Amino acid sequence: MSSSSQASQQVPGSEFKEKLPLRDGFSTRLGVILATLGSAVGLGNIWKFPTLTGSSGGAVFIIIYIISVLLIGIPVMVSELAIGRSARANAVDSMRASTPNKAPWWLIGALGILSAFLIMGFYTEVAGWVFAYIFKAMSGSILSTSSEVTTAAFTSLVTNPVLSLVWQWVDLVIVGAVILFGVSKGIERVTKTLIPVLLVLLIVVAIRSLTLPGAGEGLEFLFKPDLSKVTASTLLAGVGLAFFKLSIGMGAMITYGSYFRQDQNISGTALRVAFSDMSIALLAGVAIFPAVFAYGFQPDAGPSLVFLTIPSVFASMPAGNFFMVIFFILTFIASIGAQVSLLEVLVSYVNEHLKLNRKAATIYSVLGLAVFGSLAALSSSLLSNVKLFGLTFFDLFDFTSSNIFLPVGGLFICIFVGWVWGKEKFFAAMTNNGTLNNKGFVSFLFFLIRFVSPVLVLLVLLNGLGVFS
Ligand code: TRP
Repeated sequence: MSSSSQASQQVPGSEFKEKLPLRDGFSTRLGVILATLGSAVGLGNIWKFPTLTGSSGGAVFIIIYIISVLLIGIPVMVSELAIGRSARANAVDSMRASTPNKAPWWLIGALGILSAFLIMGFYTEVAGWVFAYIFKAMSGSILSTSSEVTTAAFTSLVTNPVLSLVWQWVDLVIVGAVILFGVSKGIERVTKTLIPVLLVLLIVVAIRSLTLPGAGEGLEFLFKPDLSKVTASTLLAGVGLAFFKLSIGMGAMITYGSYFRQDQNISGTALRVAFSDMSIALLAGVAIFPAVFAYGFQPDAGPSLVFLTIPSVFASMPAGNFFMVIFFILTFIASIGAQVSLLEVLVSYVNEHLKLNRKAATIYSVLGLAVFGSLAALSSSLLSNVKLFGLTFFDLFDFTSSNIFLPVGGLFICIFVGWVWGKEKFFAAMTNNGTLNNKGFVSFLFFLIRFVSPVLVLLVLLNGLGVFS
């Protein structure tokens, strides 16, 4: 389809959009919110948020993360959604179509393709661990409050190269299959029912964790800020987490925006998604940290933290094994909604830009990721000694994507929307051509996008990379 040539003559008016080629869009407004939320909620809530909170000093890190969501995350998110819905194409073509001159803003989309590879590289591995834990939980072998038992179970998984690869590839095949069922059917169906159930289970786990003897120390860690823990790297990690959590900075939300209906309220959707996602992350924190302290785990254990702690909480609960199986199943399903949005960036690009049909595009993308991702999968076994900048491939993919690529992408998206795309088009998209009564809020968002978010991102990025020290 020639989305770029059509959309480049685009005026912000709805008559024109009716003539755009039909994409397989989300069928209902609720479906849109759920799919966008499905992209945001995933291992970022259950795994990455606790991992980083534990290693970056607790409460202070959480505050940095929340401020980043408000001042950077939401503005970038609405920018991406607005561009995508207006241009109605994959990230690269949407950027190209929205650019008035020949300037290479489509490179943001191209950077996003690279980010999708990096993120999926390690994300599929963690999702593979979660999948493997469903069966470990079923066997009853990890139901223990002893850190030796849970640590041994995790270590035996990640240090086994064959298992690491197999679980990662199983995950990739499942995500590819979901994509093949198409956007509205695949994504909406998966997300609709399961996030609420996961939420209920997290509340149950949080209550158990909070009532463990010694839980108070965990709460203090989560909510009593120690300002001496604010460093250049915690700032960067907090901003990076906001990007990662909201699935922004690499075109996933441009791609999702392209499936939005014209009567969708973009800022309302973004606010709902951001707050729900943040609440789920905080809830996961409350479920995990009291138990970390009650059972004497190390909060800065890194990627293993959740896999060691969660079994201990379930082990101290009636019918714990049953609930643990459900917990890992739900977490895995939540991870699929997120992975679908990452893979969709690749697939929609290969499909529309390189003109392969969706099936071939999905298969090639999955194969590419299986090869690339194995570098991360083998990071705790065969490749554990291979390091770049002192990081294994797993850590390198994680660090560079969240802390560099996504913020850089977000920075340019803000500059693009604030200074190139411009006020008129942004307002038309955000108010649905004046039909929504939200001018004040949109003006405030536009102010953040022009002046606040890009400056903050740039400062934190340069500071985090050591430019000022
Ligand atoms: N937000 C997801 C999570 O928290 C991860 C994710 C999905 C993502 N799509 C993304 C991160 C796009 C960055 C960009 O698990």
